[in-house]
Amino acid sequence: MSLNDCGRHNRFLRALRRLPVDTTPIWVMRQAGRYLPEYRASRQRAGSFMNLCRSPEMACEVTLQPINRFELDAAILFSDILTIPDAMGLGLEFIEGEGPRFARPLRTLESIAALGVPDPEVELRYVPDAVRLIRRELNNRVPLIGFAGSPWTLACYMVEGGPTERFAHIKGLMWDHPQALHQLLDVLTQSVKLYLEAQIRAGAQAVMLFDSWGGVLAPGDYREFSLPNLRQLAQSIDRGPDQVPIIIFSRGANGHLEALAQTGADALGIDWTVSLSEARARTGGRVALQGNLDPAAMYAAPESLRLQVDLLLRDYGSAPGHIFNLGHGITPDVNPEQMTVLVNAVHEFGKRQELLA
Ligand code: CP3
Repeated sequence: MSLNDCGRHNRFLRALRRLPVDTTPIWVMRQAGRYLPEYRASRQRAGSFMNLCRSPEMACEVTLQPINRFELDAAILFSDILTIPDAMGLGLEFIEGEGPRFARPLRTLESIAALGVPDPEVELRYVPDAVRLIRRELNNRVPLIGFAGSPWTLACYMVEGGPTERFAHIKGLMWDHPQALHQLLDVLTQSVKLYLEAQIRAGAQAVMLFDSWGGVLAPGDYREFSLPNLRQLAQSIDRGPDQVPIIIFSRGANGHLEALAQTGADALGIDWTVSLSEARARTGGRVALQGNLDPAAMYAAPESLRLQVDLLLRDYGSAPGHIFNLGHGITPDVNPEQMTVLVNAVHEFGKRQELLA
C-alpha cells in the first residue's frame, strides 16, 4: 500500500507524518467500548473483560465493531494497558462498575526488586496474535494502532492496586524511596519497549503511549519520573522497516508540551484543556497533534456538536498534521448516533480546511 494515495485507508498515517490529506482523519479513544450495544453483547458472551482481551478472535471482533459501524479512519487494538502488570504476576481483575484491581499490588521494596520483564511472545503472546488477526481482517481498510501504558502510569496502578484519587502510595514511594521507583520505571520501560516492538512486528502501523496520569505530577517530578521514560521509549523502540510513528498522550501535562515535542514522538495526544492553536504554536510544527474535543460534547444536541467540531477545526487551521479525536475516552452512556454525527462533521468540515490550505 502506497502512502501516496489519500483515501480512508491512509489519511491517518499521512496526517501522522504531517502530509496533506483529502480531509481530517478521525478516530476516538475507547471507540470499541461500552457505549456500543454490540460491545456489551460480546463482553457478556466472553464472561469478563480480560477474557475478551486474551482471546485474539474476540479482541478482533470487538476492534472491528466501530470500524464497521462508523467511517472512522483508524482502528485501535482492543486490549488494555494493564496486560503488562498482569503478565508480571500482579493478578489483574476488572470489577464491574469499579474498574481494575490487582490482587498483589507492589507495597514492599522486595516485591519491586523481584519483578521481571515479561516476554511479549510468551506471557503476552495473545496480544501480537490479536494484532496479526486484526490486520488480516481489516484487509487495509484502515490502519491499526497498537498501544501501551507509560511506565509512570503503569507504576501508579501497580503500587496503588487500582484507581485512586490521592496517589498516596505511589507518591510515598516517590519521595521516600526514589531509587526504588526508578528501578520499577526501568523494568517497565524495558517491558513496554519489547511489548510495542512485538506489536509492530505483528503489524501495528502506529503505536500510542498512554501516560494517563502524567498530569498528577508536579513539574519537577514529571521531569524526573515520567518524561525521561517517555523519551527513552520514543528514541529506543525499533520501529521496523516502515518506521512506525509513535504518539504520546500525556494527559493533564500541558505544561510540558514543548518538552514532549522534543522526545522523538511523531505526534502528541492533546486533552481538551488547551486549545489546538496554542498547542501548535508551542510545539512549533515539530509533531502532529491528535485531539481534542471535550468528551462531554458528545452529550450536546447534534447541531451543537457539529458547531464544536467546526470551531475546533478552524482553531487548528489549515496546516497538515491534525488527527481529530476526543480529549479523552468516549464515555459509556453516549448515544452511538452521536458518533455518526461527529465523524460526518469532521469529514465534512475537514475537507474545507484542506481547501483553505
Ligand atoms: O477502544 C479503545 O480505545 C481500545 C481499547 C482500550 C481499553 N483500554 C479498553 C477498555 C484502551 C486503549 C485502553 C487504555 C487504558 N486502560 C488506559 C489509558 C487511556 C485512558 O483512559 O486514560 C487506562 C488508564 C486503562 C486502565 C483501565 N481499563 C481502567 C481505569 C478501566 C476502568 C474504567 C473504564 O473505563 O471502564 C479499564 C477498563 C476498560 N478498558 C474497558 C475497556 C473497553 C471497560 C471494560 C468493561 O467494563 O467492559
